[in-house]
Order: sequence, then C-alpha cells, then structure tokens
Amino acid sequence: VTDRLILGIESSCDETGVGIVRLGPDGALELLADEVASSVEEHARFGGVVPEVASRAHLEAMVPTMRRAVEQAGIELSDVHSIAVTAGPGLAGALLVGVSAAKAYAAALGKPLYGVNHLAGHVAADTLQHGPLPQRCVALLVSGGHSQLLLIEGLADKITEIGSTVDDAAGEAYDKVARLLDLPYPGGPPIDKLAKRGNGCAIAFPRGLTGPRDSKYDFSFSGLKTSVARWVERKERAGEEVPLADVAASFQEAVADVLTAKAIRACKDLGVDTLVISGGVAANSRLSGLAAQRCAEAGIELRVPRPRLCTDNGAMIAALGAHLVAAGAEPSRMDLSTTPGLPV
Ligand code: KG4
Ligand code: ZN
Repeated sequence: VTDRLILGIESSCDETGVGIVRLGPDGALELLADEVASSVEEHARFGGVVPEVASRAHLEAMVPTMRRAVEQAGIELSDVHSIAVTAGPGLAGALLVGVSAAKAYAAALGKPLYGVNHLAGHVAADTLQHGPLPQRCVALLVSGGHSQLLLIEGLADKITEIGSTVDDAAGEAYDKVARLLDLPYPGGPPIDKLAKRGNGCAIAFPRGLTGPRDSKYDFSFSGLKTSVARWVERKERAGEEVPLADVAASFQEAVADVLTAKAIRACKDLGVDTLVISGGVAANSRLSGLAAQRCAEAGIELRVPRPRLCTDNGAMIAALGAHLVAAGAEPSRMDLSTTPGLPV
C-alpha cells in the first residue's frame, strides 16, 4: 500500500470545514490542509446558532472552502483516495449541506464515501497532534453543542457513552452566563479572559450532580447558570456593584471542577490511564490547567489538542476517515442519510 489522501467534510453546526490528511502505509497521519469558514459572526446578535442561517452559510462556503483546502494541500482533487463526511449528530439542515456535497464529490470522482460520527471525529482530532491513541482511553468532549464522557476502545467502532449533560452543554452555559454579564457571543473566550483578574473561590456556585445519589458521570449546568443569574440580581437589587471578574472566575471554577473531577473518576473506575479533552471548551485555560494538575496527581496522561483542532473542523473528520480506511471498514452507501440525533 502507498500513501492515501483522505478528504474530510464537516458541516454539523456553524463551521464549514474541509480537511485533507495523508495516511501512510504504516498508518501514520499527516495533516495537509485544514480550512474552516465560520458563520459565528452571523449568529452573534442572536446569542446562539440559528439553524437556517447556518445552513445557508454552509451552502455558500462549501465550494470555496473545498478549493482552498485542495490548494493548501497542493494536490489535485482526483488524487483523493476517499471522502469522509459528518453524518451526525448536528443540525439537520446543516448536516444535509455537507453530506450532499460529499456525495456529489464522491460520485463525480468515483471515490468511496464514509459517513462518520462528529463526536468520534473530535476524539480523532487528537491523533493528528499526538499520534495513535492507546488501546483504551476516556474522552471528555465539551463544546457549545455537547458535553460527554466517552470510553474509547477503538475509534472505528468501539465508543461507549458513559455520561452526558442532562440539560445545557458546557459551552452553552458559558454563552448564557456571558450574556447575563453583558459579554459578547461566543461567551467562552471573554469569560476566560475576565476570570484571570478574579478569584475563583470568591463565590461558592453549585457543582451540579455531585451528590452521593447523583449519576457519577452525567453533568448538569442549568442550575449553575440560574444560580449565577440570582446572585447577580441580588447584588443589583441591593444597589451594590457586581464584582464581574469574581463572578466569571467562580463560575469558571465550578465548571472546571465538575468536568475534571468526573472525567478523572471515570478514568479511575474504568482502569484507564489516558484522558483526551476536546471540543471548543477544551480551549479554556482553567479547565486545561486544573485537568493537568489533577491528572498528574492521579498518574493519568492528559492529551489536549491545540485549540484549532478542538473546535469543529474538517481535519478531524478526515482523520477519522483515515482510521476507517486503515481498519478496512466498509464505505457508506450512496443513499447515506444524515442523522441529527446520531448516538456515538
Ligand atoms: O467546538 P465548538 O467550536 O463548536 C461547537 O459547539 O461544536 O465550541 C464552541 C463553544 C462555545 O460555546 C464557546 O463559548 C466555547 O466553545 N469556548 C470556550 C472557550 N473558547 C470557546 N469556553 C470556555 N473557555 C474558552 N476559552
Ligand atoms: Zn463539535
């Protein structure tokens, strides 16, 4: 076997991504292109992703993003070995644009098509930076759309969800609290920045689902968000100044504390010694800092891909496609459908 070029297409939320990786005969992956067009600014004034706006933006961005990726990789589209595309989970209309484009390219080029799972893609992204995953690892996926703990025993076909949020995703909590504090959307980066000037122990915000009777690996963030809202309201009603930096830092501490505690507990319970953290919230400085500290104490190896690979992109889908090709997986049929609620 010689080198094979795998193209990945991502369109599950507000990022149109096209990535290209080279799969070596030994299974090694090399990232050749990673082009992303985001419609985040079009959603900013709504304070969240508007599905119709996202679909239209994907439609406009898909072909130009594909052209840029092919140019960046310095290849011809006809050199591609196979095409992977996010089939779910995600926004129905947004997924349709990517899957339709992938089918069109696959049919026109006569190449195999692989419909893949977006969540598995987030984990596969890490292999582009840190190489192959060990036999077993735990992944914490935290973004605007998902918050999950996964047991990974094979990227191609053996991923088990061990926990998830029962209400808001972690990034969604960041976005809602940012709105409450009059910070811009998306809320993660401005809260992260503001929190650096505050004291994370100033306010004891609640840690969701950490009682003795609560689910060990599930998350809940809506109570935390409400608690922040009530705390700010009380201050305002009393005519006192709201210590914004302390609120941001204390909120951030509550999120990072619960996420890292549950992820490490899962590793210990399952006898796993590697933790991967991915998704947009993995860029959070306190989350990665606390995870590094707690993983070191517990003897767990922590893998966090660089921010560019953590947020939605096509390279992670290409990487997952490459794992499927390397594993000799069956391609999808050309009547591949989207599955907005696809489980792992
Ligand atoms: O993975 P992503 O780009 O898109 C999906 O939702 O799939 O994640 C975006 C989320 C947003 O909610 C954003 O507020 C959050 O990631 N985020 C952060 C940080 N950077 C982005 N949250 C906390 N701290 C950050 N530094
Ligand atoms: Zn995502």
